[in-house]
Amino acid sequence: MILDIYLRWYELALRATNFEVYGSPRKDLFQNLILSGMGGSGIVCDMIYSVLYSSSEIPVTIVKDFQIPRWTSKNSLLCAISYSGNTLETLNTVSKALEVGAEVCIVTSGGKLLELARVRGLPHVVVDSGLIPRAAFPQLLIATLKLLSTYRINLCSDLKSLTNILRDVESVSKTSKELAEFLKNSLPVIISNTRFYPLAMRFKDEFNENSKMMAKVEVIPEWAHNDIVGWELPLGVVKSLVIWDDDLVIEFLIDYLRGRGVDLQVLKLLGDDLLSKMLYGSYIAGLTSVYLAELRGVRAEETKSIDMYKEFLKRRVNH
Ligand code: PA5
Repeated sequence: MILDIYLRWYELALRATNFEVYGSPRKDLFQNLILSGMGGSGIVCDMIYSVLYSSSEIPVTIVKDFQIPRWTSKNSLLCAISYSGNTLETLNTVSKALEVGAEVCIVTSGGKLLELARVRGLPHVVVDSGLIPRAAFPQLLIATLKLLSTYRINLCSDLKSLTNILRDVESVSKTSKELAEFLKNSLPVIISNTRFYPLAMRFKDEFNENSKMMAKVEVIPEWAHNDIVGWELPLGVVKSLVIWDDDLVIEFLIDYLRGRGVDLQVLKLLGDDLLSKMLYGSYIAGLTSVYLAELRGVRAEETKSIDMYKEFLKRRVNH
């Protein structure tokens, strides 16, 4: 059951802090970083991007597609994350990056990516197999942080301390059950500022995949330049989850939505920094989505439509 995996996040994260980085990373100073991955693996790219946005001296970009940017070169570092190691979009970006001589490093549990990493001697970290991609999130995140640190891209100086944010599973469960109850018959609209956009997306993705629900994400301040007008006549079915940050526009947003009679909850995140807050928030997102699945009578672990899409791709794309 996927719930059992979420309930073990602290233990899984702690294990990941001891994962080995295989291979020998090139010592060059890269001119840019490309993070490639889809779905439950790709969200790690978004979180890392958000942290690096204010600290990285080199440009960072995310690819969630088959193609890499035209400017990718031998001076680029492409970090590919795929839990299964068989996601065609991600595999394609890796092949293209290798073709132009970029440095490629990999986080996976197996599949074709692991095979490739071993055959080509690419720097890589292997996470535990037998999990479900989105529920393997803390391992994928920590493995990627470890891998990037071998290229002197440092996002976290103490991975063990980072995992502490996952320790209090009882309180996370309680918050998540309450949130599931609040959102159960609604179309959730998750709103955050740009820093927390990956977390808002994580909530949406978890509601989509585990709870089989539609959900929408809005980001401030952009929200205030278009979506805000839609809330002048909000749909009855909409409820809003606002991810709190110390931000003037969030204050405006909450007042504005309340003034329109929108049913909303504000989520305050524990953690000392952006990364730990997003990890904590992801835990709430995961458990809430599983409790929502229970309330809705659906199986959280099953994602038949994604399987259908992957089967279609396999038949139609030669790789
Ligand atoms: O959580 C999931 O199951 C999906 O979102 C997958 O992560 C997505 O389909 C990509 O697969 P993978 O993570 O194996 O690359």
